[in-house]
Amino acid sequence: MSSPPAPSRPAVLVARAVFPEVVERLRRHFEVEDNPADEIFDKAALITRLAGKAGAFTTGSERIDADVLAASPSLRVVANMAVGYNNLDIAACTARGVLATNTPDVLTETTADFGFALMMAAARRITESEHFLRRGEWDRWAYDMFTGSDVHGATLGILGMGRIGQGIARRGAHGFGMKVIYHNRNRLDAELEGRLAARYVDKATLLAEADHLVLVLPYSPQSHHAIGSAELALMKPTATLTNVARGGIVDDAALADALRERRIASAALDVFEGEPKVHPDLLTVPNVVLTPHIASATVATRRAMAELAADNLIAALTGGRPPAPVNPQVLLGGVLPPR
Ligand code: GLV
Repeated sequence: MSSPPAPSRPAVLVARAVFPEVVERLRRHFEVEDNPADEIFDKAALITRLAGKAGAFTTGSERIDADVLAASPSLRVVANMAVGYNNLDIAACTARGVLATNTPDVLTETTADFGFALMMAAARRITESEHFLRRGEWDRWAYDMFTGSDVHGATLGILGMGRIGQGIARRGAHGFGMKVIYHNRNRLDAELEGRLAARYVDKATLLAEADHLVLVLPYSPQSHHAIGSAELALMKPTATLTNVARGGIVDDAALADALRERRIASAALDVFEGEPKVHPDLLTVPNVVLTPHIASATVATRRAMAELAADNLIAALTGGRPPAPVNPQVLLGGVLPPR
């Protein structure tokens, strides 16, 4: 007697190389097509790979837009291994009943650590002076060699006061005795402002008063070039600017000009317009710290992000409640509509 066919399991695409244990975990639930060679799929390749897939495990490098969604009618869940999700067209996902999920919380403190480290590196000219040393140019002590600006006691300005912004505010206020000012779409409640010792100001005041300005706001058409030449012109010539948010929030060409002309003292960037390409002018100005989008990159945090993305995918496709839905309206009582 032939046995009945095994119930078919949903197929999912893991679009980039991730921890093998996480892929193995997904294999316990799904037919998994993974990408251990870590190829970068362009739109056409992504569409080909998504054929017949119910789920996609993505990272910030995959753009899931209306075209990809239209060409992938079997897709029900996109689990993004990132807290940001500007690579996903959420309105188009929602319109098609595709659930999008992200990985908040698990990277907050790690990213805040890194934002603070970048800000300190810009203020104290750490990479600029290291390059000088590596070039063999250090032949004497000098009273004004690589003098920067203090972090302790200075005014920390934060644009975007979500979880990561609050983490940076806590470090500044409670660890370094900084005066913290912030601007955000929504003002925090008074109790939280009190705990963070943070004062809400308008954007122009933030730009004018900050000694160290840190950007932590999500990217959207509204935040595109939130810092351009007009905003840079409002900053102190001694100020630093740190971006751990998203490329495109800063006009990188305008920033390179401002740095070259010393209209601000220095900058530190982990994210870039059009990354992994970097504006060539940023590569030739000395007073900028450049890192390749690694703010969340500790082993523990990247693992936690991958596990959370897997939790989201597994729950969404097995009738559970995904822990971090971005468009929860797609969930009807915790169960995705059948296809
Ligand atoms: C990293 O940039 C993230 O959004 O998680």
